[in-house]
Amino acid sequence: ITLRFTITDSSHYHIVHCLDDTEAGLQFFTDGMLLVKDGKVIELGPAENIRAQLSADSLIIDHGEHLICPGLIDCHVHFPQLDVIASYGAQLLDWLETYTFPSEARYGDPEIAQADANFFIDELLRNGTTTALVFASVHPTSVDAIFTAAQQRNMRLAAGKVLMDRNCPANLQDTPASAYHDSRELIEKWHHQDRLLYAITPRFAVTSSDAQLAAAGQLAEEFPDTLIHTHLSENLDEVAWITELFPHARSYLDVYAQHGLLRERSVFAHCIHLHEEDYQEFAQHGGGMAFCPSSNLFLGSGLFDLKKAHAYGVNVGLGTDVGGGTSFSLLQTINAAYKVLQMQKQSLHSAEALYLATLGGAKTLGIDDKVGNFLSGKEADFIILDNTPTPLLARRLAQAHTHKDALFMHMILGDDRSISETYILGERVYKKGTVSS
Ligand code: GUN
Ligand code: FE
Repeated sequence: ITLRFTITDSSHYHIVHCLDDTEAGLQFFTDGMLLVKDGKVIELGPAENIRAQLSADSLIIDHGEHLICPGLIDCHVHFPQLDVIASYGAQLLDWLETYTFPSEARYGDPEIAQADANFFIDELLRNGTTTALVFASVHPTSVDAIFTAAQQRNMRLAAGKVLMDRNCPANLQDTPASAYHDSRELIEKWHHQDRLLYAITPRFAVTSSDAQLAAAGQLAEEFPDTLIHTHLSENLDEVAWITELFPHARSYLDVYAQHGLLRERSVFAHCIHLHEEDYQEFAQHGGGMAFCPSSNLFLGSGLFDLKKAHAYGVNVGLGTDVGGGTSFSLLQTINAAYKVLQMQKQSLHSAEALYLATLGGAKTLGIDDKVGNFLSGKEADFIILDNTPTPLLARRLAQAHTHKDALFMHMILGDDRSISETYILGERVYKKGTVSS
């Protein structure tokens, strides 16, 4: 066994992470070190304490004035929608018909799927995203492609085959039986291989029959530690259609709950147009929400109520929702989240924003024992935030009075240019300015 150490060090050296979602839970080290061995965090602390633990073969990496932060977690993103991003002029249901379904139809081709999976994963890493919960397409080959790309880079990533057997083009439909068998095979092939996790992925209740939702529920029962990943209450026309399709359900959420799809590690993207009882059901059954502000603005879907989700103790993470969303950057997504919350007279301080993009996301995906911050024993996925990525951000950071102000500036003015390096399990997989990771 080779022992690999990656240690970061400097005389005034910055590290930030969250212990919880409060301002008090934001830990900032101005002279800190992160001690990593065999891909795991050994310890984070003041440099003088850590230095005492170093051995002769320790590798010390000095990131100077730049900020070290846990890898960002994208709780909702579509890999076969790379070529849908920035499509003009439609809201959800038209957007799906016009742009999204035609794009996803190409992913039955294993060569296209593999090439685009590699591009997609590299784009995540270039944006500082080290973990994501990913929609593939209806084709099992698209799931093989995304897991292969993630596994080659040692990433912790969850994904699943989309299930849809109605209200979409015939060439994109599966059936309840094929959905069950294909998902089952993919679970047996990929779930818990290295750092990969399978997510049972009915697209949304519009495109899954009762029989197919029942099949998804059966899988969820047979494989209780998989994730479940779907869309919920994003757009008012969608919600109205659900009422027609499921006249006996109490609500949209109830359609999923009745099929056993609301449980721990169920992740619902959007959750905008909910009833009070829905929040109660979330609180009781433990499902999480992916807040996708850039998508919600781009598609004109509505404003996510973070305050209410928190009041009910529901786990919330951030999703870019590319291609409905307009950026792979979770910094840009925080920027959009801040504005969505401002429109509702809610606030989002920098500690809570960092929490949503790291530990909150990890909790939502049920992997907060593995990633999300720098507690001892966690997997060492982290990023280096450049403090001079653009002239404007450099100028504003030089004026910051507090660490929290500086962090807020990174979030509002930052994007992919802010990510100078990305590390997976203590190994650098991306460095800004190099063509390939
Ligand atoms: N609802 C059902 N499918 C989709 C999708 O691909 N993107 C978004 N944003 N919402 C959906
Ligand atoms: Fe989505």
